[in-house]
Amino acid sequence: MTASRTLPAHLAHPFSPRGRLDPYPAYRWLREHDPVHFDVTSRMWLLTTHADCALALRDPRFSAALGQRERVRDDELPPSMLTTDPPEHQRLRSPGALLMGPAAIRGISGGIAAEIERVLDGLAGRERIEATADIGEPLATGVLAELFGLPPADRAAFAVLAARVSVNLDPLAGPQAAAAGRAAMGELTRFLGDRADAAAEAVRATAASASTAAATGSTGSAGSAAAADTAGGSPFGRLAADDRLTRAEMLGIASLTVVGGWKPLAEMVGNALHRLLPRKDAAEQVRESHEAAVSAVDELLRLESPIPFTARVTTEEVRLDGGVIPAGARVLALVGAANRDPAVFAEPDELVVSRAPNPHLAFGAGTHLCLGAPLVRQAGALLLGGLLTRYPELRPVGDPPVWAPSMVPRRLTGFTLTT
Ligand code: HEM
Repeated sequence: MTASRTLPAHLAHPFSPRGRLDPYPAYRWLREHDPVHFDVTSRMWLLTTHADCALALRDPRFSAALGQRERVRDDELPPSMLTTDPPEHQRLRSPGALLMGPAAIRGISGGIAAEIERVLDGLAGRERIEATADIGEPLATGVLAELFGLPPADRAAFAVLAARVSVNLDPLAGPQAAAAGRAAMGELTRFLGDRADAAAEAVRATAASASTAAATGSTGSAGSAAAADTAGGSPFGRLAADDRLTRAEMLGIASLTVVGGWKPLAEMVGNALHRLLPRKDAAEQVRESHEAAVSAVDELLRLESPIPFTARVTTEEVRLDGGVIPAGARVLALVGAANRDPAVFAEPDELVVSRAPNPHLAFGAGTHLCLGAPLVRQAGALLLGGLLTRYPELRPVGDPPVWAPSMVPRRLTGFTLTT
């Protein structure tokens, strides 16, 4: 094992309360001086270069299943793709794409656009807007409601449950918060389970009437092709109607989507506006084209991702340029550090809306690459473009926001805006 170096005393440890407010000086030092660092405090190996993080996310010697098991302590999260390695992982991920893959998102793109219009409408005439409570959370609730086909009457209860299960993301959550998160997970699973049969039935009924119409020729071939493409019902209904999964697996994937998706999407908004609003030129680019807005979402996630690291455990000894990690070691790929690696990104601390290529790791990489990424890009770009177009004077007001002490998601508190 290579001797690890110690972070200089003047730099706050990135997991300490002070370091969590601004982890970047420590990230930079680690990347430059000890890129394969054994952290005595957490007893984990910290990877900070883009090359090492990308390798850890793609190389099967770094197990996500073991990493999640370590991370969630004794929490019994239902089985899902995030808690499994290949080949089991692919068996769960393929049906998961029915819920949030690109085709699923295309099928509900009209609904997503309407949800975003509703969020924007809700801001009209408001003097004070809280970035997360008034924009991020309604956005996350609206787009996930589209995935799950939730009627308006279910949304308030869903939003409360989604907020409560989000504590499962935070590795620093104490035992009480973790127990509350587990209880909420049970309630969320029941909530989704209660709606799964009707959602699946709606999909089967639409498929049956589409095939009857095709048999009688009443829609014509173009009509039946279109019906097959959008295949009625919600993406959740298509997942629930799929017979490749057990019911527990299906609900595990559905609840993982809420745990992994709702809060990061909600918090992405404040993190993004914090960097974007002071840059008039960048805001102008986002306003002017949807492509620029999509590119901005990636760039803003590169700079301030709500998910700054992810855990793995080595299944055998791994030799990297910066050191040797033993078998069975707990490893954190600090993607927040990798995303500012000057070896890959010119001007790594700057917002460059048109950055291309932009191989950031904010959505992970390899087998476990975020399945929600197409949804995040589409919803994020529509939201940012719509916000800046409808509210061109949108700006921060009051005291500057501060970074919350939580580690996952990395998020701002007290970010107030006015139009
Ligand atoms: C800004 C918002 C988001 C960020 C930054 C983000 C980031 C990530 C990252 C880093 C991973 C990989 C974790 C690992 O390798 O251990 C991941 C996985 C995943 N994400 Fe996201 N995510 C976001 C939003 C969403 C949304 C909205 C959804 C669902 C609608 C979602 C669904 C998933 C799923 C299902 C996985 C597991 C994929 C697998 O294991 O194969 N995410 N996400």
